[in-house]
Amino acid sequence: MFRTHTCGELRITDTNKTIKISGWVQKTRNLGSMTFVDLRDRYGITQVVFNIDTDAQLCEAARALGREFVVQIEGTVNERHSKNPKMATGDIEIIATAFTVLSKSETPPFTIEDDTDGGEEIRMKYRYLDLRRTPVRKGIILRSKMAQEIRHYLSEDNFIEVETPILIKSTPEGARDFIVPSRLNAGYFYALPQSPQVFKQLLMISGFDKYFQIVKCFRDEDFRADRQPEFTQLDCEMSFVERDDVLNKFEGLTKHLFSKFVNFDYKGDFPRLTYAEAMALYGSDKPDIRFGMQFVEITDIAKNQGFKIFDEAEYIAGICAPASAKYSRKQLDALTDFVRKPQVGAKGLIYVKCNEDGTYKSSVDKFFPQEKLALWAEKFAAKPGDLLLVLSGNKTKTQKMLSELRLEMGNRLGLRNKNIYAPLWVVDFPLFEKDEETGALHAMHHPFTSPLKSDMHLLESDPESVNANAYDLIINGVEIGGGSVRIYDTQMQQQMFKHLGFTQEEADAQFGFLMEAFKYGAPPHAGIAFGFDRWAAMFNGTDSIRNVIAFPKNNSGKDIMIDAPSLVDAVQLKDLRLKVDE
Ligand code: AMO
Repeated sequence: MFRTHTCGELRITDTNKTIKISGWVQKTRNLGSMTFVDLRDRYGITQVVFNIDTDAQLCEAARALGREFVVQIEGTVNERHSKNPKMATGDIEIIATAFTVLSKSETPPFTIEDDTDGGEEIRMKYRYLDLRRTPVRKGIILRSKMAQEIRHYLSEDNFIEVETPILIKSTPEGARDFIVPSRLNAGYFYALPQSPQVFKQLLMISGFDKYFQIVKCFRDEDFRADRQPEFTQLDCEMSFVERDDVLNKFEGLTKHLFSKFVNFDYKGDFPRLTYAEAMALYGSDKPDIRFGMQFVEITDIAKNQGFKIFDEAEYIAGICAPASAKYSRKQLDALTDFVRKPQVGAKGLIYVKCNEDGTYKSSVDKFFPQEKLALWAEKFAAKPGDLLLVLSGNKTKTQKMLSELRLEMGNRLGLRNKNIYAPLWVVDFPLFEKDEETGALHAMHHPFTSPLKSDMHLLESDPESVNANAYDLIINGVEIGGGSVRIYDTQMQQQMFKHLGFTQEEADAQFGFLMEAFKYGAPPHAGIAFGFDRWAAMFNGTDSIRNVIAFPKNNSGKDIMIDAPSLVDAVQLKDLRLKVDE
């Protein structure tokens, strides 16, 4: 038997018990007549004491234990003289009577403690060591518990978990596919699924009624902190439902997870904003509504007043930053520098300080006298002490820039508290987005999304104006999930493909099976998929989803631990009848 207890288990009530524990040496300390060893496993750390007066030989041998050696210790539980209230096992120590080295370790390349000296690169190369660290392990365990809870919750509600294939044909979710050559069918390729979208729709046609899956998805796209080329979705689909059935069902799940994992009791219903409202108020389809500072448009009162930049602008709008009128010249310059960064792209920033004495100080005093600025302040409902920040230009671009500025001000004013969760549904997205260069239409969500009933009559004549029956779940400015009511009618689906530029032959070649399935009784259905990594990272209090993925890829899509992607040998290429273009 390697152990009677784990390293996180023993308490003062176990005093005098004879025990065995096994684990990794976190550190050793030699204090003259005594050697202390901290032994660690997944459950915690226990202090072990070797005493020269009790067993000189054993104590001497223990001094040779290096960091990360795997050791089994036998001994008795003893109440500590100086207790450590910070450790769960801090009331006791083990007086060792014997030990066995189960496995030696070389000196690890970084310290395996909560705060480590190892940089990201080295920790990824030795990810198995990084995973020994408590904060990293905690993220992985949280993720596991969330998956269990979701399975339990949905299964209780009669959802059925069904696995769908990984080697498939391309699924259009807007990213590039990863492709896999077929040896048995030389010259042919599988694609890895960007999501199980078409399969879950087929499962509805099969009559499964309520489906879910915690499933790997693959997208060859550019990297960000919240994106990985392979990531995990909680994927769901339901039959005989309308939009609100789906939203209510998964709002219930979200509230359940809030209370279970972050001790957050959300009262009431999640707010809902249309895409158009979200863009007008926050300049973003994933607004962070932990704080206000909604956009206020002042084009009507600021344009045509002799200030050239405004006079030439399509749109003039700003935000009102509470209690920031005392911002110094330097702070205002820093904000101007911020909006001028290439990622934001504004040319400049206009400010109006609403002084405590009721006067205004602005960067456009020359063009806007006090009474005009008072009109602005009124429109912003600004209070004395507030600061107005205004941008202008092309409407869509300015909204995006102002959104960045709003988030920056939210950060500066400490309004983006990680312990508060502000969910909302964004609904009624446009059905299509237009490629500015080619003029081609793309599905904003995916080609299987139904138009809103009220817009269906415009699908043929004015597709760009049609809104989709699609929805996203946003929490704290992060897109946690998205889905839609689906098209279940062959004719409408064909019309969609036509708008998206597929010829009849192309649509048949790529989606013939789905069109065929629609002919045999397709129920009305709708669904949603959640970014499981994003959700786990948020509940774990971390920005990067890498922290909740056991073996993530780095920013260049590489796993530097196993060295993937890598070259394959000539025989493998030959079997696949592939040639690499040097
Ligand atoms: P969508 O493409 O919006 O919808 O994806 C659903 C959710 O998955 C997460 N996500 C990602 N997470 C990490 N890395 C990525 N590269 C990545 N891409 C997406 C996001 C997103 O909200 N089939 C549809 C769903 C449906 O219509 O039911 C789909 O995949 O959190």
